[in-house]
Parts: sequence; C-alpha cells; structure tokens
Amino acid sequence: MILSVGQSHFELGDPAANLDHLRFLLDEAARQSADVLVLPELASSGYLFATPAEASAAAEEIPTGPASRLLAEWSRDERLVVCGICEKSGELLFNSAAVFASGAHLLTYRKLHLFNTEKAIFSPGALPPPLFAFQGFRFGLMICFDWFFPEVTRRLALEGAQVILHPANLVLPYCQAAMITRSIENRVFTATANRTGSERGVTFSGMSQVTGPKGELFFRASGDLRGVLSVEIDPARADDKWVTPANHLFDDRRPEFYTPD
Ligand code: ACM
Repeated sequence: MILSVGQSHFELGDPAANLDHLRFLLDEAARQSADVLVLPELASSGYLFATPAEASAAAEEIPTGPASRLLAEWSRDERLVVCGICEKSGELLFNSAAVFASGAHLLTYRKLHLFNTEKAIFSPGALPPPLFAFQGFRFGLMICFDWFFPEVTRRLALEGAQVILHPANLVLPYCQAAMITRSIENRVFTATANRTGSERGVTFSGMSQVTGPKGELFFRASGDLRGVLSVEIDPARADDKWVTPANHLFDDRRPEFYTPD
C-alpha cells in the first residue's frame, strides 16, 4: 500500500485559493500512485481565525461543500483521502477531518482536544476517534493536538488500528519527535500531514512524516516543502505486538495500576 502525506501552505479565509492548493496536492499524490493520502488540518480554510464569524465564512458542510466534493471525486479510483475541513453544522463550527474512500464520504471526525485559541472558535468533538477499514487494513484518525494525549493513540491501537492518520497544523516543536514514540509504544504506523507558512505571526513547522512500528522514520519533509511524499508500507506489520519473546505490548499492560487513587 502506498501511504502519502501532502504538505502545503493555505490561505486564511480563502476557500477558493485553498481548493487550488488541494488540487495541486491531489494531482501530485495521483502521480505517486497514492492509495491513502493524508492532508493537513483545516486545509480548506486556513487556521488562525480571530472570530467565529470569520471561521463561519470559510466553513463548509460535509460532504456537500466544495472541498468535500473535490476530495470525494479524487477518491473514486479505489483511493482513500483524509483532509482537515472547517466544518459548519447548523450554528456550530468544528475542526474536523473528513474521510473519503472510493468516491464516497466514509466518516467525519471532530477534533476532541482543541488547542489554545481554537477553543474560542470551535465546538469540541463528542465522539471517540474513529477506526475504519480500507483495502483490508485498519486505520485510526486523530487531529493535530490530539497527539499530546497518548490515550488517543493507545485507544486506537487497542482497537486494532494499524495506521494512525494525523492531519495537523503544528506550531509547538515536539510533535514530530513524539510521534516516533507513539509508533514504538503502540507498534503502529503513523502519518502526520502538517502545513507550512505563517498566519498572523504564527509559523507552522512542516516536517510532515511517516513513522513505523519499530520507530522507523520513513521520511520527514523539510519545513517548507510544498508537495507530496510517499512510502510503500505493509500495515500488517503493526499486528506483531511482541516486544521480546516474553513481552506482549498489550497483554503485559497492568491497567489496574494506571489510575491514580
Ligand atoms: C494544533 O492542534 N493545531 C496545534
């Protein structure tokens, strides 16, 4: 399976310009024969909204909005794509990631852990991070700051996820290194698609990457790459949870000692 991540800058509050950025990444991913493509958080809209009204003007309904339709169309040829979308649902706004596979909208995940000023703009998600199947393999999904809460990745891994897909707009410097640990401690692949550029004085770090169950770093993009990077993986490698012949990552857990008194 070819796993790809797309990295680009996006324009704050300009969904039409962002459709062009997305088209560029989708074309490039098709050229690289991507089976599964991860695109950044809030790629349809930009990130650093000052007010809910500003975000609302750049938001769309999923799956009827223009970015959703573009992504669904790209996925028609037996592909899967996940992309961060500024989602409008009634009066509410969500920082969401929508998954499209084989031409259809598969699901939408609404970010659970809102970062900093996002709390003034978006409602937090109310459902757990999703697990879903594609081409016989199992995928989990989380958005950016969710990485800071290792329970998210652990839950997905315990449920059987082999590959964690991770749209991001990273501003803190820790995540790319931490995702190697998330891979090792859960024996899963992770694919982080981050963005580049700056908005209102905040710079996004790029360095999108794919990691493997034994801590492999298959690639890490530069801070300012605009493009797609791909790697061929066998997701079934994530099913081996034996750390030594005597240590099984999940069976050796002692959850009765993990909750403070
Ligand atoms: C973030 O969650 N976008 C930092």
